Amino acid sequence: MILPVYAFGHPVLRKKCKDIEQRSEALNALIDDMFETMYNASGVGLAAPQIGRPIRLFIVDTVQLDKEGQGIKKVFINAQILEETGQEWDYEEGCLSIPDVNGEVSRPPVVRIKYLDENWEEQIDTFDGMDARVIQHEYDHIEGILFTDLLKPLKKKRVQKKLDKIKQAKIALKYPMVFVR
Ligand code: NI
Repeated sequence: MILPVYAFGHPVLRKKCKDIEQRSEALNALIDDMFETMYNASGVGLAAPQIGRPIRLFIVDTVQLDKEGQGIKKVFINAQILEETGQEWDYEEGCLSIPDVNGEVSRPPVVRIKYLDENWEEQIDTFDGMDARVIQHEYDHIEGILFTDLLKPLKKKRVQKKLDKIKQAKIALKYPMVFVR
């Protein structure tokens, strides 16, 4: 089932998300719906607050980005970033909750992260490149942080009008969305 994506301005996107207490069929169904929602919107990552749920869950599929079939397709439950290392690099990010806004964000290239996978098994993995980039972006979502918070001041100023328009639902929709009112 395709779920509506919560748009910039909705308070759920600003919540520090809570750990998920236990496995359930409902959680599995939610994960399936999140993949369907993400693919429908041509995304490479989606976090639970973006579909209105303030829980520590996000999904990533960077296999789509890589012609050689590299990349990851993974579910991250109750994730905790352990370490970010290397010299920060800029990359132009976007977000399904903030349509038609892009901007360069500076992040470290390597991330070490602890999480439960979809089988509720604890994993500690290290990711780099685009995999790390998408994980860091989605991880920010479950901490209530949006990539627009991390733009350089001048760029932030430049996108403000667009952000106001999204907040007021004055945008053309490419996929179902929920606005603050
Ligand atoms: Ni996003």
